[in-house]
Amino acid sequence: MTEIAAGTESNESAAVAGASGAVDCETEIRQGRRFAFGRNWRRFGDLIDEERVATAGESLERALGTSDLTGRTFLDIGCGSGLFSLAALRMGARVRSFDYDPDSVRTTRRLRARFAPEADHVTDWSVCCASILDPGFVREQERADIVYSWGVLHHTGDLWKAMDAACGLVAPGGALYVSIYNDQGLESLVWTEVKRRYNRSGPLARRLLLSGSLLYLSRNHPARALLNLARGGAPLGGSVPRPRGMSRRHDLVDWVGGYPFEVATPEEVFSFCRERAFELRHLKTCRGGLGCNEFVFTLGSGAGAAASP
Ligand SMILES: C[S@@+](CC[C@H](N)C(=O)[O-])C[C@H]1O[C@@H](n2cnc3c(N)ncnc32)[C@H](O)[C@@H]1O
Repeated sequence: MTEIAAGTESNESAAVAGASGAVDCETEIRQGRRFAFGRNWRRFGDLIDEERVATAGESLERALGTSDLTGRTFLDIGCGSGLFSLAALRMGARVRSFDYDPDSVRTTRRLRARFAPEADHVTDWSVCCASILDPGFVREQERADIVYSWGVLHHTGDLWKAMDAACGLVAPGGALYVSIYNDQGLESLVWTEVKRRYNRSGPLARRLLLSGSLLYLSRNHPARALLNLARGGAPLGGSVPRPRGMSRRHDLVDWVGGYPFEVATPEEVFSFCRERAFELRHLKTCRGGLGCNEFVFTLGSGAGAAASP
């Protein structure tokens, strides 16, 4: 883990590069065992503007049922670009963000410098490099009123250990907001193989896998997909903001490359959380198809320790 000091961006950047988790992550990426999520987020970071921040805030508001997080703590596990941490800060929360990929950490810090330069790096919005699978780091964390982990836990390499750790970080009465890739049986197995190969391939094979995946995903709109490819690969509408303020191009790369990759049925997620005293408050499914199911659970205020059952 890299602790946050209220230092300069370059001090912080040097600290991220030297962190043991960061070194592990970079080794996994170099060896083709992990997708370079942070590189994709760095590119996406340049597209973030007030419109995307507002859209991200609306997505939080819809799922959490409030736009006012004043005085509440928000833990962003696998913060990626930092977009949702920023949206939570704007809603009044005190935010802690971390990510395993040092590039994601740098991008989140850059976002903080751009959009919230006045934020205190300890009390208002801290950002560090760490893994949710690191028991030492998790043990040191204070529980949060809202634990947010969108599209992350299935990319750790151990979905259920990561879920257990995330559950254990929710304060009594607090909320767990997660999204997990849907289990589609054979189709999920095929995608796992595509992603594994993508990360072990060179640039040309990656382009082919991206193009093939795009054609498959857009099989209902083949003419539009081909036109976009011919124009330089801006898939399915280029960088037009998506519902959470994301971009189609970056989401496609994240989807095809996103590895490690695991999936779960909604029922598996329900029963895992129910065993740990959580109640379902919000559910948005991908209707059995490709993509993530999104859940918000709350932890009973009497639940002292939402640890493993
Ligand atoms: C698909 S991105 C989602 C980013 C962000 N939550 C969002 O909704 O835009 C997954 C992120 O999880 C991070 N990640 C993967 N394994 C992790 C781990 N063990 N601990 C913390 N973050 C992890 C990746 O580096 C990446 O930034």
